[in-house]
Amino acid sequence: MSLNIEQIRGLFPVLHQEVHGKPLIYFDNAATTQKPQAVLDALAGYYSHDNSNIHRGAHALADRATRYYEETREAVRAFIGAKEAEEIIFTKGTTEGINLVAQTFGRKFIGKGDEIIISTLEHHSNIVPWQMLCEEKEAVLRIIPINEAGEIIFEEFEKLLSPKTKLVSIVHASNALGTINPVKEVIDAAHAVGAKVLLDGAQSTSHLEIDVQELDCDFLAFSAHKIYGPTGLGVLYGKREVLEAMPPFLGGGEMIKEVTFEKTTYNDIPFKFEAGTPNIADVIAFKASLDFVNALGKPAIKAHEDALLAHADELTREIKGFIPVGTAKDKVAVLSFNINGMHPFDVGQMLDAKGIAVRTGHHCTQPLMKRFGIEGTVRASFSVYNTKSEIEKLAMGIAQIARFKNK
Ligand code: ALA
Repeated sequence: MSLNIEQIRGLFPVLHQEVHGKPLIYFDNAATTQKPQAVLDALAGYYSHDNSNIHRGAHALADRATRYYEETREAVRAFIGAKEAEEIIFTKGTTEGINLVAQTFGRKFIGKGDEIIISTLEHHSNIVPWQMLCEEKEAVLRIIPINEAGEIIFEEFEKLLSPKTKLVSIVHASNALGTINPVKEVIDAAHAVGAKVLLDGAQSTSHLEIDVQELDCDFLAFSAHKIYGPTGLGVLYGKREVLEAMPPFLGGGEMIKEVTFEKTTYNDIPFKFEAGTPNIADVIAFKASLDFVNALGKPAIKAHEDALLAHADELTREIKGFIPVGTAKDKVAVLSFNINGMHPFDVGQMLDAKGIAVRTGHHCTQPLMKRFGIEGTVRASFSVYNTKSEIEKLAMGIAQIARFKNK
């Protein structure tokens, strides 16, 4: 099915504005996506009609808020194909999800001499929590190398696997380059040596169909705000038996069964991992984001975004001084590049003056940038509401900027 992009754009109020006197072209979708009106309405609706704490009150508003909150949990379950809603934990975002696994699963099951494998493509949020754990436990962090295109070298990954490997934590789609990793193969190979696998789904969940049961990953962490949802909210999926074996993360209300000064017993999953009053409003509004994606269908969204990327590739390829960074065969719609002789930040500012919003810098992937011998890139990341004509304006803008230094 091909999508009606103009109609879709009509659902996003923020897109209809001028920046520096030019119509906004928003190409910073890998940093955060814009929110459709339905999400804004759900947020206002909750605070206007239903505001109440959940799982506690004996009154109508509390019942309603609790029901809506749990409806989102069920919607998330269906969105990623999990077996049970109890396997869905609400977090602050991908970063917190990964830290939760490091601080609970990691602290309990990873010890001296054990190994954790990540890849060169990782975001700092999938590097630093493991470094902290390795330092504490005297465990060892191993890194899967990548090729010039920005793809992991699978044979090298296989060489790193051993009975010492306790966890493989790998990004599904790279935020900096767009590379889609062969995660099914990674998961199967890791399981063959008895390791668990965490997928960082921050950049994949809004583009790629995900079925955690089919993938058989042990954990999946992602953020709502990159799927047209509110900021400050994320999801950690974990297999029931793994979550049940893990100690709690934060202590407090909701996560307990019974507290005495002598001993506390913990609640069942998912509540064991949701201490304190959660982000109720954003969880409830997140359902509207998932409904939006489901109504369009991820295959149609991906097909549109792929067409935008192909168009951008074609229009920029011949520009003198244009240096693409990350040319993997399998990518989400991220165009990462440099312009010969120019700092990425300057390019970003010049594009901003044309109304084009991109991200510049190391994209929280400093080791990846180091691998390519660069400080950073300019990153244009596309979404379902972007158009071919916006891509043409970007290419024209890049060509104009490149001409300064590349006569
Ligand atoms: N991780 C987000 C990005 O890549 C913020 O921009």
